[in-house]
Amino acid sequence: MTPQRLQVALAERSYEILVGDGLLAGAGKLLLPHLPSRRAVIISDETVAPLYAAALRASLEAEDIRCDVLSVAAGEGTKSFAGLENVCEQLLALAPDRRTTLIALGGGVVGDLVGFAASILLRGVPFIQVPTTLLAQVDSSVGGKTAINSRSGKNLIGSFYQPQLVLADLRTLTSLSPRHLRAGYGEILKYGLMMDATFYGWCLEHANALLAGDVEVLQQAVLACCRMKAQIVAADEREAGSRALLNLGHTFGHALEAELGYSDALLHGEAVAIGMVMACRLSSRMGLLDAAIEPQLVAHLKQVGLPTSPLDISHTWDADRIAAHFVRDKKAENGMLTFVLLKSVGTACVVKQVDEAVAHATVASFLKG
Ligand SMILES: NC(=O)c1ccc[n+]([C@@H]2O[C@H](COP(=O)([O-])OP(=O)(O)OC[C@H]3O[C@@H](n4cnc5c(N)ncnc54)[C@H](O)[C@@H]3O)[C@@H](O)[C@H]2O)c1
Ligand SMILES: [Zn+2]
Repeated sequence: MTPQRLQVALAERSYEILVGDGLLAGAGKLLLPHLPSRRAVIISDETVAPLYAAALRASLEAEDIRCDVLSVAAGEGTKSFAGLENVCEQLLALAPDRRTTLIALGGGVVGDLVGFAASILLRGVPFIQVPTTLLAQVDSSVGGKTAINSRSGKNLIGSFYQPQLVLADLRTLTSLSPRHLRAGYGEILKYGLMMDATFYGWCLEHANALLAGDVEVLQQAVLACCRMKAQIVAADEREAGSRALLNLGHTFGHALEAELGYSDALLHGEAVAIGMVMACRLSSRMGLLDAAIEPQLVAHLKQVGLPTSPLDISHTWDADRIAAHFVRDKKAENGMLTFVLLKSVGTACVVKQVDEAVAHATVASFLKG
């Protein structure tokens, strides 16, 4: 099928995002113009590789592209120094050169790890993102943030390194668990809440079809989100300003994820869903947002089966411990905290003067039950 095409405009680092249903079978032809040589290595994880690596490899080999396949363990633990060493050593054993293209086939974990490896292997080799989770298709595969985790926190070691191409095959989403699909929807809704009230309305209307796997609806959502992300990244590639708006709900969300040790007890998109509700309440408490928005958001998230409060996740929460993450966070500046807050549906803003006590009280208000 013919893919829909979008452009991420970054001068000499510009690239295309291709979105469509069933693109893997013809991926060789689509990728070929973006490869500096007929040599590639697919890196995937142990869950995704058995599902899609053979089809991708066959389509590359059909175009005379020499192609190896490597597989890493699935899960966040792979985004580590040990995981990076393992993938780099396996790659080097294949004797790549600077024109060998790495292809990240998987979710955000594989995309972040392979992107980082590509940025340092032989001082930089080209790479292509083939995202296979909804979260990766609408968010992590676009924009060039690559990272591994450190003992001190998540995504603290990495680089800005843009791919040559993003190829999102919607058909890969058919094997994704409903829970991971919902988590991806959390990030989709974030785009509407943050910067596009019309898209937010569209989400409310189409959420059920999207989560039922309606491919037309999925395509519209992926395209809309990639368009918004491309626009933001083109304006602020290295997050000096407006790119931070993408972090709506993330300061709260990351604190909750950190408390749970980034385990499967709380997926990133679920944490973002809760974080958006908390950001709404903080925005209202600071007099920025109409208090009627929060219950509307909560009703929608509940209807689609996403959590809306830390209390929806089984864990012994403590407001002091959650709030401690904000303070430790790189966003803290002279006793005041920086949060992405909402003025209205579709309008987020970065607020640098959030009183720690107000943020703490907002967290505490969620733990009362
Ligand atoms: N770089 C960025 O801008 C950015 C943005 C958001 C998130 N992230 C990162 O992304 C990561 C989360 O990504 P994720 O949610 O995609 O997680 P993930 O990569 O761990 O994938 C989730 C699970 O689904 C499996 N899976 C993937 N595709 C599948 C498919 N098509 N069918 C069946 N199973 C499949 C994986 O093996 C894994 O077990 C986090 O590490 C986060 O920090 C990065
Ligand atoms: Zn996110």
